Amino acid sequence: MFISGYKPNYPVMKITQEELKNEILRRGSSILDAWIGDERVKKKILAILVAGKNLLLEGPPGSGKTLIAQTLALSLPPIKVVNCDFNCLPEHLICPQCTSPKGLHHSDITKIIKMPGEKRIVRIQGSPELTAEDLVGDIDPVLAFKYGPFDTRSFKPGKIIRANKKILFIDEINRVPERLQNTLLQMLQEGVMTIGSLEIDFSIDTVLIATMNPEEHAGVYRLSEALKDRLEKVRIGYPSPEEELRILELYGKQIGAVVSDDLEKKMVDIAKIIREDKNMEQAVSVRATLSMFELVQSFALLRGDKLATKEDLREAALIAFRGRVTLSPDSSHYDHPTQYLRELVDNELEAY
Ligand SMILES: Nc1ncnc2c1ncn2[C@@H]1O[C@H](COP(=O)(O)OP(=O)(O)OP(=O)(O)O)[C@@H](O)[C@H]1O
Ligand SMILES: [Mg+2]
Ligand SMILES: [Zn+2]
Repeated sequence: MFISGYKPNYPVMKITQEELKNEILRRGSSILDAWIGDERVKKKILAILVAGKNLLLEGPPGSGKTLIAQTLALSLPPIKVVNCDFNCLPEHLICPQCTSPKGLHHSDITKIIKMPGEKRIVRIQGSPELTAEDLVGDIDPVLAFKYGPFDTRSFKPGKIIRANKKILFIDEINRVPERLQNTLLQMLQEGVMTIGSLEIDFSIDTVLIATMNPEEHAGVYRLSEALKDRLEKVRIGYPSPEEELRILELYGKQIGAVVSDDLEKKMVDIAKIIREDKNMEQAVSVRATLSMFELVQSFALLRGDKLATKEDLREAALIAFRGRVTLSPDSSHYDHPTQYLRELVDNELEAY
């Protein structure tokens, strides 16, 4: 066996946490400017990260969780790493690929790459199909045939290992199978991953940002108590109408027709009404409002007009919401959702 019993005999470094902390302390809450929302929520998120804790964002679909994680990764400074799968620092070669005399990249070690902040994120989509191989890694059968199954050159690192020196973003962490939640636990607890088949321990320097839907919607997929205990949870919700207007201004795509301020206001009002309607099983996301903003322009352009009208909005709203809402089975409108949506939209537009 190649590096049997190999243990990290170096201090576990926490550079990534430190970099993020310094950047947050330098820039304050403006670091999260891309996410439009409550300042108190931003403070909580940043406080957790400054303290070096693991962040769990709990919020409904389309509330900006991915945006927050990407924005934080983007704020990380560029970093010089070796061109190995473990992202070793040039002055700190620690992975099996770099340290093994027969290592895969041994001749390539001088190859140093500059990784920009936006690349410093690895994303895992939580799902029941996720395997230990996805997270930790696996022996590549072709390479194993060539080098032997216990040679480190045969090992293909998984996503947790590739997240070294990066943000590890786990979407819907509650859908990660329970036994793999334990693998995550080990990493959170000790900052170390065990590569079982090779008996290698490898230290992971990462910042974990996880997401989940609000617990009441999580269904059968639960987060283990032990994992819950190691994550600091921040709940994020839908934006207020004023915030959603800002989101439209910042992220609404210009298709070529003018949308008046009044019409924009009407859009966020319609979104709010539908979101808060008690007949809905799950509220609609900001994506619906953004889509409405783009569709309303399309309808104007198709009429050969450069100015969107209330009629365009009626059509746009129905498309944007019809595919996204589900009426609750208890609702008396359950059997005719389109008609019910039309009523809600018409009601809202009547006063316009
Ligand atoms: N508070 C917000 N501030 C700015 N943009 C937002 C906000 N909420 C949603 N958005 C916009 O809505 C879209 C969806 O956001 P994002 O993908 O980050 O949501 P999410 O919470 O990760 O959704 P999901 O649960 O479906 O993965 C993006 O275009 C994003 O810019
Ligand atoms: Mg997302
Ligand atoms: Zn390396």
